Amino acid sequence: MSGPIGDVILDGTAVPAEAAVISVFDIGFQRGYGCFEAMRSYDGRIFRLEEHLRRLAGSAERMGIPLPDRADLARWCLDRAEAAGDGVVRLLVSGGTDLNTPGFESRVVVFAEQVADLPEVLSVQVRPAPWHPDGRSSELTGAKTLSYGPNVAAGMAARREGFDDALLVGRSGAVLEGPTYSVAWVVDGTVNTPALDLGVLPSITRNAALEVAAASSIPVREGSFPLDVVLAADEVLAMSTLREIRPIGRVDGRVFPVGSVTQELMAGFRELVTNEIAA
Ligand SMILES: Cc1ncc(COP(=O)(O)O)c(C=O)c1O
Repeated sequence: MSGPIGDVILDGTAVPAEAAVISVFDIGFQRGYGCFEAMRSYDGRIFRLEEHLRRLAGSAERMGIPLPDRADLARWCLDRAEAAGDGVVRLLVSGGTDLNTPGFESRVVVFAEQVADLPEVLSVQVRPAPWHPDGRSSELTGAKTLSYGPNVAAGMAARREGFDDALLVGRSGAVLEGPTYSVAWVVDGTVNTPALDLGVLPSITRNAALEVAAASSIPVREGSFPLDVVLAADEVLAMSTLREIRPIGRVDGRVFPVGSVTQELMAGFRELVTNEIAA
């Protein structure tokens, strides 16, 4: 993992990385109680900052954690984006030090880092995700919380087996998402993707990809789909802030080409980013 680019902003104050420390009694550390966002900066500006801050506000509200003013959060993120140029800006909010009072002594951390090198075409291993909501909901469904242990472990297990990442399948047999990406596949020219009501993260890149599809008159179908449907697809693709839109060339032993619909979505996404960043 690369270190931060420049200072870390801790509760609004820029401090050097080594001074950016929070309490071991914070329930963000002890229980994974807290929420976060990861954003992409291009040329010092953040793609869809407002959407990220809106999703963070939703996560924090569900967790009962009060946030600083949105304008302050935006300012801190933009400050780090400027320092990074093309980079990743991370915003993390800890739960604080009192289990009964979420947000008490909560800390807000913002820093930038380099974009990690990723393969141009991904290979993924199907892994069971019995912890995933998969159509059921609980208090924090849809929130982007700090409790990423099972997702991290699934990704690590897939990498140990020689894949780039995991593809999560829920208890119902539905294909859901990756540990940190959304998934879609193409069948006869139609983009298929798991529906948000399965409890997959309301991904900002997925949103943008569906906008690109609509603008390009590419049909989209959202729903609950079993693995054999994905394995029989023409193209498969991953979507996330860090990956943008990226082809998946292998799911387990099955190989997929980088098809024309994926290429069209990638080109459209790039154009969307360029236009929004320039605006
Ligand atoms: C579980 C999960 N699904 C999907 C995504 C993609 O979301 P976004 O496009 O907002 O980065 C992420 C991002 O981290 C994620 O953690």
